[in-house]
Amino acid sequence: MYPGSFDPVTNGHIDVVERSLKFIDKLIISIIRHPSKKPLFTFKERFEMLTDIFSDRKNIAVEYFDGLLIDYLEKKGVYLVIRGLRAVSDFDYEFQMVLTNRKMLSTIETIFLTPREEYLYLSSSTVKEIARLRGPVEKFVPAFVADKLKEKFNEVSNY
Ligand code: PNS
Repeated sequence: MYPGSFDPVTNGHIDVVERSLKFIDKLIISIIRHPSKKPLFTFKERFEMLTDIFSDRKNIAVEYFDGLLIDYLEKKGVYLVIRGLRAVSDFDYEFQMVLTNRKMLSTIETIFLTPREEYLYLSSSTVKEIARLRGPVEKFVPAFVADKLKEKFNEVSNY
């Protein structure tokens, strides 16, 4: 399972998905419906973006969860978590998450995948910041996600 906020999905996420499928047969991309930080995109929008991107992939399922990740993993009988690890700055948070989750559910293992070099600096937050300032986001997200970002920031003029 690849859990995340995906607000929005970036080329870095897609790269992690592709990498994971080199060694697993089936991947569940699991969107947290109500992340602690208020998302820019609604759950429906985040869900649609991911299902659009992977619609022709039989071995990828896009799902969502509420509450604790470990509860969802247990409910699904999934014990392998995939996360992207870009830089040292990610490490603290990820390390904390792995150890906390493991303390609550000892059967979980987490595998960290490092995206392609050109996506190492990339995050959904950076992409949103560029879009907010009307910069070019096409290099960082699929074309239709770039359009959605532009629409979003045009919709709300005070962003
Ligand atoms: O894309 P993100 O925002 O880095 O994803 C973080 C996510 C959703 C994987 C994480 O916040 C999570 O699992 N949240 C669910 C609540 C939970 O289980 N918290 C305990 C983990 S420390």
